[in-house]
Amino acid sequence: MTYSRITGTGSFLPSRVVTNDELAARLNTSDEWIRSRTGIARRHIADKSQGSSDLALEASRRALQAAGVDASQIDLIVVATSTPDYVFPSTACLLQAKLGIKGCAAFDIQAVCSGFVYGLATADSFIRSGSHKKALVVGAEVFSRILDWNDRGTCVLFGDGAGAVVLAADSKPGIHASVLHADGSLVDLLSVPGNVSNGCIVGSPFLQMNGQGVFKFAVKVLEEVARETVAAAGMTMQDVDWLIPHQANVRILDATARKLGLPPEKLVITVDHHANTSAASVPLALDEFVRAGKIRAGHRVMMQGVGGGFTWGATLATM
Ligand code: ACO
Repeated sequence: MTYSRITGTGSFLPSRVVTNDELAARLNTSDEWIRSRTGIARRHIADKSQGSSDLALEASRRALQAAGVDASQIDLIVVATSTPDYVFPSTACLLQAKLGIKGCAAFDIQAVCSGFVYGLATADSFIRSGSHKKALVVGAEVFSRILDWNDRGTCVLFGDGAGAVVLAADSKPGIHASVLHADGSLVDLLSVPGNVSNGCIVGSPFLQMNGQGVFKFAVKVLEEVARETVAAAGMTMQDVDWLIPHQANVRILDATARKLGLPPEKLVITVDHHANTSAASVPLALDEFVRAGKIRAGHRVMMQGVGGGFTWGATLATM
């Protein structure tokens, strides 16, 4: 039996840090409001010259190094992003070229904040089928480009960054189970309802959101999908060492852990210093906790996504 296993993690954050106070200096908001409603204290914002593929490249190099794998050994690249460099080609193809390799399969996944979990589940299926042996799965975003920086209701919530893992074929799991869902009827809860057409932007190029609707939906489905995933793996919540929900809002994270009966020390929180980095949030958090020596070999980690679409999903993996 072939399984897939995470053999290396990496991440990258742009150097520019924007604090709540910096936002409050030019918007009708405050550090107190943002912290108390979201838990967010600061976020990293990419330089104009940095696209998602640039952030993905740095995160990928670190993941490859941690896995002890040369880029030439990668036979599948999956990049989850809603902020691609171009309409096409995919950010995965741009990343492939920047890594200096060619020939392997490369494509993007668009599932917004669930993108990394969708990507992990997809790459796991490729590896378990026997068709591929070593995948690079990346979440990379420059959400700062799709925010209306005059809209205090949305711009305070997000940041830029990238996280990556090397997923390799192994005789032991690795990934035990993944469960993915979507409900396209909820498009109006969270969207960037625009496109490029005939040389113009049609609709809006900025993120719009029903904050309270998102909040309630996220808490409900993050609990449900965690329970579905442990059941699919033939385990219980007691078998989970770490919960890494999509880092949207500390109140969503706390509520999810509480509903699942998980103690606070098993909950991974990075939203305070990364803000919401959409598809990058889970691999960024994973890498931070791996590098800090908190998440270690043998630990069971539940990774969860929820976001625009609506999409949601979870993966349970032994590190
Ligand atoms: N600073 C100060 N006041 C603000 C700000 C701000 N940054 N943003 C909104 N307000 C005001 C509103 O204008 C409103 O004022 P009013 O009462 O005078 O009209 C007041 O605060 C309350 O607004 P609400 O939207 O009701 O505030 P709420 O307590 O619901 O908090 C929030 C808003 C933080 C967005 C919350 O709904 C939330 O966290 N939702 C989840 C959204 C989320 O995480 N989105 C991420 C993308 S989705 C995903 O990743 C899954």
